[in-house]
Amino acid sequence: MPTVAGGLEGVVFTETGVCFIDGTVGHLLYRGYDIQDVAEHLSFEEVAYLLWLGKLPNRQELETLHGQFAAERDIPSIAYDVIDALPPNTVPMDGLRTVVSFLSGTDPELDDNSADANYRKAVRLTAKAPTIMAAVHRRHFGLDPVIPQPTGSLAYNFLYMLSGQEPDEFVAQTLDVALTLHAEHGMNASTFAGRVTVATLADMYAGVTSAIGALKGPLHGGANAVVLKMLQEIGDPDHARDYVNNVISGDYVVPGMAPRRVPGFGHRVYKAFDPRAIVLRGMSKKLGERAGDSRWVDISNAVVEACAAAGLNEKGIYPNVDFFSASSYYTMGIPESLFTPVFAIARMTGWTAHIIEQQSDNRLIRPRADYIGEKGLKVVPIDQR
Ligand code: ACO
Repeated sequence: MPTVAGGLEGVVFTETGVCFIDGTVGHLLYRGYDIQDVAEHLSFEEVAYLLWLGKLPNRQELETLHGQFAAERDIPSIAYDVIDALPPNTVPMDGLRTVVSFLSGTDPELDDNSADANYRKAVRLTAKAPTIMAAVHRRHFGLDPVIPQPTGSLAYNFLYMLSGQEPDEFVAQTLDVALTLHAEHGMNASTFAGRVTVATLADMYAGVTSAIGALKGPLHGGANAVVLKMLQEIGDPDHARDYVNNVISGDYVVPGMAPRRVPGFGHRVYKAFDPRAIVLRGMSKKLGERAGDSRWVDISNAVVEACAAAGLNEKGIYPNVDFFSASSYYTMGIPESLFTPVFAIARMTGWTAHIIEQQSDNRLIRPRADYIGEKGLKVVPIDQR
């Protein structure tokens, strides 16, 4: 009889060359490169190339990729019509999911899963995601979309399309690092959802649409927005300890989060400090100092101390990638409703890299469940029930 692995914990379903994680010591590699080295030395565009093609681009290859991104950034006018037609209460993640799904019908290479076509589709989806997000966001406030620029990085263009103003170079550069840190993370829930979908021989857009849906939840990428709510509720570093203790005891539930869970803490794989959170903590501190407002990073650090004092570290619970990204994004001026979409924009690279890998050596993914219901029941005619 098969044994039940709740939440598929510890189950290995495939081999991968995209990402390595050793959660016991907080070690993360993108295609063999340590995340600290990646965050310090590579642009998001270089990371995208690395994840898709398995090697670092040389100068000319990187320039070519920049040109491909620039050419693919805008979305067809019918996609802007879809954005206009979204029901007013549509949250940005749902807008992204809807428009990505819609765009499948505009991609001439939808059913071509050759390596070259897959690379082009991955470029297209990654290039268009910020444009979709910015247009969905602006439309919510009754504003026309801003057409992307042919120059500048993906991070720069995203900020530009949000406001229509040239973004601050430091903020654009910092967002680039944040995107790099969120680009890839092994067999997380959304990547797994994407791989499950394409393993049926469905197309890349179907896989990415599944992945966006899975990322939205607050136990996964949706946690960063809940973290901000928590920081705002705490309001002052001195209140962190009582607040955290109330959450852990179950006396208080953070809105949008499961009971007894501190948002932005804990991870299925990491039982040590998430290496991405270390970089993001430094980023949050630098952004706070630069803005002359360290309140959000100070409250965040107070939460980290309160969780340690409450014994969470002994259980292997530390801040994850979503924790310090909240204070970082907020200080950058990114609206809270776009926190998880920023994650999705970055992860588009990892999702598509995994989809390409899945399609290159595919087998249907189909686990089983242990049946615990009744057996041998006989149907009673409807008049006798
Ligand atoms: N706060 C307090 N306690 C926690 C937390 C937390 N954030 N996370 C886990 N625990 C505790 C659980 O209560 C449980 O304790 P117990 O053994 O005494 O019952 C133990 O740690 C193990 O928890 P599980 O639920 O088994 O852990 P799982 O691997 O299933 O869940 C998850 C991982 C969903 C990330 C969880 O840690 C969580 O809910 N965190 C908060 C939400 C969050 O930040 N999500 C983002 C994760 S990063 C990402 O997806 C990008």
